[in-house]
Amino acid sequence: MSTAPAIAPDAERLRRRLDAMARIGASAGGGVTRLALTEEDGRARDLLARWLHEIGLEVRMDAVGNLFGIRAGREDAPAVLVGSHLDTVVDGGRLDGSLGVLAALEAAQTLEERGIATRRPLAIVSFTNEEGVRFQPDMMGSLAFAGHLSVEQMRGAAADDGATAGECLQRIGYAGERAPGDLPVHAFLELHIEQGPLLERAGATIGVVEGVQGLSWTEIRLRGEANHAGTTPFDARHDAGLVAAEIVAFARALSRERGPGLRATAGSLRLAPGAVNIIPGEATLTVDLRHPEEASLAAAEEALERFAAERAAREGVAIAMQRLARTFPIRFDPTLVGLVEATAHRLGRTTLRLTSGAGHDAQILAACHPAAMVFVPSRGGRSHCPQEETAPADIAAGAAVLLQVVLQLAEAV
Ligand code: GLV
Ligand code: MN
Ligand code: MN
Repeated sequence: MSTAPAIAPDAERLRRRLDAMARIGASAGGGVTRLALTEEDGRARDLLARWLHEIGLEVRMDAVGNLFGIRAGREDAPAVLVGSHLDTVVDGGRLDGSLGVLAALEAAQTLEERGIATRRPLAIVSFTNEEGVRFQPDMMGSLAFAGHLSVEQMRGAAADDGATAGECLQRIGYAGERAPGDLPVHAFLELHIEQGPLLERAGATIGVVEGVQGLSWTEIRLRGEANHAGTTPFDARHDAGLVAAEIVAFARALSRERGPGLRATAGSLRLAPGAVNIIPGEATLTVDLRHPEEASLAAAEEALERFAAERAAREGVAIAMQRLARTFPIRFDPTLVGLVEATAHRLGRTTLRLTSGAGHDAQILAACHPAAMVFVPSRGGRSHCPQEETAPADIAAGAAVLLQVVLQLAEAV
């Protein structure tokens, strides 16, 4: 049984806003495609900015397009920063990112309506390009905010179509003036869907996130020789597609061999020219490696590189590997983690401590500020797909925990 808190967010208003946000970039099959810095991303930002203005927050944007709504505190102290991201993957879900931003907005509006002034300012944030689908690295906005990526690096990142992040930021009207990170931060909080099956399996409502596993993205370009499929003997082939396929299979074999901590995925693969009767002359694929321990992640990177180089050499195919993104495993601030857990218990919620398998802006912020995350269950463990869903009662529970943790941090000395 849950105990009603003294003040609670308006779950119905949050639901309406999630629905409205999900209409921007909605795909026919119920998913959302709102890639970073596209026209859809621009419209999502416009909608958020309108809501921030409507509740009287000061709207700010920085030079990498991070969008903030500031609610002043009784004191000019470092702010409690709360949020997530509005960009999505290709045909992704409606909650990944949006939930964290809109629940933060809901927390601010609830305080506003109750006339509750907090000691510290409250800052709502939507970080630019968390997903990293169109521009790499992922978590671009939070990396710039934390000082790990310069404005020039961010703006110079190029998409496959040649457009730069800087041009796209200008085009959608979110190239702000402020230096990223110019907001003093007391602590960062992010509400997010779990994106995996652990909470559902455990029958717990609130995930208390202890850390985030490390991530390594590699792009592998293979250049062999296009030739006739019917006439070319096998000893005369330089088949880039074959090497790519071997790497795809190796990713799974490596995960099996070094599991259960390692997750290796070849998520994208392009063959050229890409015709039924031509030996592929070129192949480009990506491999996503994740592990909660740095040494094991580094060892997996090395094993992948060795295998890919050896197979390419055997087939007489040239190989070029490029690291697209790399994060280290992190642990969140134990005091904040404990606060999330205690707050969830006080609200009568069942909890599970876990390590996030997905990457989040909070892991970047954690390098320079106390940070923590609150997870809510994902139905069937599905995410990064149109089937991504969380029960309305769980969304309400997560938003209530977020509000209560925000309140405590905003009053903390
Ligand atoms: C971000 O969503 C990730 O790839 O973990
Ligand atoms: Mn996310
Ligand atoms: Mn995501």
